[in-house]
Amino acid sequence: MALAAIMGMMGLMMQPAAAFISISDGKFVDEECREFTWVGANTWRMLEAQAGLGGTDGKAVENLMQQAAALNITVLRVFATGVTPELPLQLEPGKYNQVALEALDGVMAAAADNDIRVTLVLARNWDGPDNKAAYASWNGLESPDDFFTSPAAQKGFQEHMQFMAERVNSVNGRVYKEDPAIFSWNLMNEPRYFDNNTACQSQTGTCTNAMQTWIEVSAAALKAADPNHLVAIGSEGFWGTNSPKLDQNPSNGDWAAQTGQNFVENTQAKGIDYAAIHVWPDNWNVPTSYLTEWVTQHMEDARTLGVPLVVEEFGKNVTGHTEQELAKARNPVFQAIFDLLEESIANDDVLKGAQYWMWDPLLVNERSEGWADLNQDQVLPTESTMTDIIAPAAANAAMNKPVVRGCTPKVAPTAPTAAPSDAAATSTAGRKLMMA
Ligand SMILES: *[C@@H]1O[C@H](CO)[C@@H](O)[C@H](O)[C@H]1NC(C)=O
Ligand SMILES: *[C@@H]1O[C@H](CO)[C@@H](O)[C@H](O)[C@H]1NC(C)=O
Ligand SMILES: *[C@@H]1O[C@H](CO)[C@@H](O)[C@H](O)[C@H]1NC(C)=O
Repeated sequence: MALAAIMGMMGLMMQPAAAFISISDGKFVDEECREFTWVGANTWRMLEAQAGLGGTDGKAVENLMQQAAALNITVLRVFATGVTPELPLQLEPGKYNQVALEALDGVMAAAADNDIRVTLVLARNWDGPDNKAAYASWNGLESPDDFFTSPAAQKGFQEHMQFMAERVNSVNGRVYKEDPAIFSWNLMNEPRYFDNNTACQSQTGTCTNAMQTWIEVSAAALKAADPNHLVAIGSEGFWGTNSPKLDQNPSNGDWAAQTGQNFVENTQAKGIDYAAIHVWPDNWNVPTSYLTEWVTQHMEDARTLGVPLVVEEFGKNVTGHTEQELAKARNPVFQAIFDLLEESIANDDVLKGAQYWMWDPLLVNERSEGWADLNQDQVLPTESTMTDIIAPAAANAAMNKPVVRGCTPKVAPTAPTAAPSDAAATSTAGRKLMMA
């Protein structure tokens, strides 16, 4: 009785999700060694929303987390960087924007409060702050792609990963590397070392080899900084020129194999814990039916490799002027992916999670003018794509919790219950500084 009472009191003081998600017997497992399968969402402008940019009251992220939890969406993929030019995280090597850092702290604290896990993306390939071009320009490099091979840029990137792992959350006091609310890290969103880069032209395969080395070295550095969390690359999962599946790439492989990616070898890199892919039929100019083929082919590879697979990003570029038009174009695509997930979960196959694109907390309650552009991908919580397809798939995935035999939970240190008071002071000072 006494012990139970003490445990009860401790339970009050502790926050939920007190273990890291790990992998046992090819499955993701939680704090009770129960299998973790899920439906997730990719988010956009989370730091911007948390920082109060875009006219929000600063509650948009908390609201999103609450809604996601109610919908049984248990993993969110979040850029741990700004995505708009107004909010870089890193201003120059080792110099950080306190507003962006504290916004990220707020996002992670809201995730912890709502029992949501987060994949944090450490850098970006495409336009925007904190991308490979930023690292290249900080180091006086000619091409953004030189990021991947420049020792100076790589030193900067590794120091950034170390910084993030060591950061103490100014809201809830958790050290990032000890925060069980982090599901995993992505090294970079969709890294591409384009083969037209002059450094790659002289030698066949150089870009593919350079990408492989970059993944190996970066994953090793991240694991050294944070041995607790899972790591994935963040790439689309294209097959390289030496792959027997070269022709299964979009458009039979011509451009996809020129991105430096090489799915099987990349996934086998030490420190990469699971296979993850993205699929974008519209951008890749392939029919929607290609989605199923793409996922099925990667499931086959993942089975051979003995690793779980995640469809980390998929989406449908829809345009329309009524919800019915949107639903007609989008729902079959979402249904196709979640059918694959449901079937895989039922058969104990390798596909364990699927994360749709996208959820933007700055757009939750409205469509902006001309929304055929950026927010064409937004799925509102009230739309049939959510109520009829995503939510049932999410409930099904969240219910699947068989105990995995032979598993030992990877228990996280107990988090402090209150923010350190000096951090709160820094927070206010930092905000004042940025507003000035
Ligand atoms: C979430 O899952 C629970 C348990 O399976 C279920 O009762 C609930 O209806 C689901 N929520 C939604 C919005 O589907
Ligand atoms: C290589 O091609 C990519 C994609 O088409 C383009 O964005 C990039 O600017 C090109 N780089 C060089 C060095 O030409
Ligand atoms: C998405 O749809 C919009 C509107 O039809 C179009 O302008 C845009 O090019 C499309 N994007 C892709 C990647 O297909």
